[in-house]
Amino acid sequence: MMRDFSSDEGIMSFGGMKVTEIADRFGTPCYVTDEQRVRENYRNVYNAFSQYMDTEIHYACKANTNLAILSILRQEGSGIDAVSIGEVKTCLKAGIPKEKIMYTGVNVSDQELKEVVESGVMINLDSLSELERLARIKTGIPVSFRVTPGVGSGHGDKVITGNKGAKFGVPKERIVEAYLRAQDLGFIPTGIHAHIGSGGQSVEPFIDEASVLAEIINQLSDAGMDLEFVDIGGGIGVPYKPNEEEMDLQEMACEVTDVFQQETDVKKIILEPGRYIICDATILLTRCVDVKDAVTKKYIGVDAGFNTLIRPAMYDSFHYIQNGSRFGKAGVARYDIAGPICETGDYLGHDRVLPDTQEGDVMVVYNAGAYGFSMSSNYNSRPLCAEVLVNNGEAELIRERETVEEQWRHQIVPGRLQD
Ligand code: LLP
Repeated sequence: MMRDFSSDEGIMSFGGMKVTEIADRFGTPCYVTDEQRVRENYRNVYNAFSQYMDTEIHYACKANTNLAILSILRQEGSGIDAVSIGEVKTCLKAGIPKEKIMYTGVNVSDQELKEVVESGVMINLDSLSELERLARIKTGIPVSFRVTPGVGSGHGDKVITGNKGAKFGVPKERIVEAYLRAQDLGFIPTGIHAHIGSGGQSVEPFIDEASVLAEIINQLSDAGMDLEFVDIGGGIGVPYKPNEEEMDLQEMACEVTDVFQQETDVKKIILEPGRYIICDATILLTRCVDVKDAVTKKYIGVDAGFNTLIRPAMYDSFHYIQNGSRFGKAGVARYDIAGPICETGDYLGHDRVLPDTQEGDVMVVYNAGAYGFSMSSNYNSRPLCAEVLVNNGEAELIRERETVEEQWRHQIVPGRLQD
């Protein structure tokens, strides 16, 4: 079931605080994360797998790279899946040890590869081209490859990554050749990686992925390469609708580890969940600023648009929305919830049955933690919003709201244009 919240005198309570208090104190829009939920989610996924195999969780930090959130995960003992030098540097800044960070880039430039090598983190190679280019920078280091397993999964076409012909990874037909070449070049092959996609809700594709990986691990073993770890990527789905079933993590852990234990000698499994760890730990608070009866539709106009949360506009993703100021009141009308961006595609939700909503009410967008803030933008010259951390009834700012002036800081107006 989707995570839901309790009411405190008719106001939604989150992490032990009324959402209206948080909105008054920090302003809107703002993302609010419940620290305890991040910890619980991390422990759930770690415990599910570690009962069967030596397990490492590498949080896919693209979901949210706030330094405070990374610090919570550092305390939990998490490693990191990083996809850019920016993410690598941010995680090092948060104190994550470099041995626990794995860089998995795609279409990586030589410049970035150099900086990643200098940072000392593990490198997971995406192509034969990247292997040859890395060899010109440094050899003698451990490497793994991302394989395209020919198995895909995801909440939509834009986020499926493991299918045949995908832009990611070395095709499974070429993967043994890639490892042999890496060995020839003087690298130490230590693991194998795949990521089938994001937000799929069934366990099946992970089992298929595991079978493909197991077969490759054995082919490599026959060629004299015994790998230390298998990394199955991220992609554990979470429910976004109230009655949606949760993906069965226990079943996934049991079945996936069984494939590796029955069929291979590999001892360690790595997972890279992003969404599972942060999605339901965070809500987006946005204030109703305008109500409109457009004859055929009623609108709740809010101060967060697709500059703040792009998932509905970009993927048609569903995010459950409630009126936090009138929490638990019966719905009286169908509303569209739309933001301040000057485009028709700027909406957070269509046709939602909600109580009579007034200007000033605090609307709550659920499951906003994964790819919420991290995909936000300055479109329409709107400053990036604030992020707040709530822990057992106490709230702290973990990112200041940006100012308009800060958006000018990298712009240069040539002298001849200044008179
Ligand atoms: N590992 C790799 C190599 C990945 O590319 C990704 C996500 C993950 C792990 C984490 O996947 P997760 O556990 O979060 O599903 N912006 C989209 C999602 C894009 C995911 C990209 N890669 C969204 O908002 O749904």
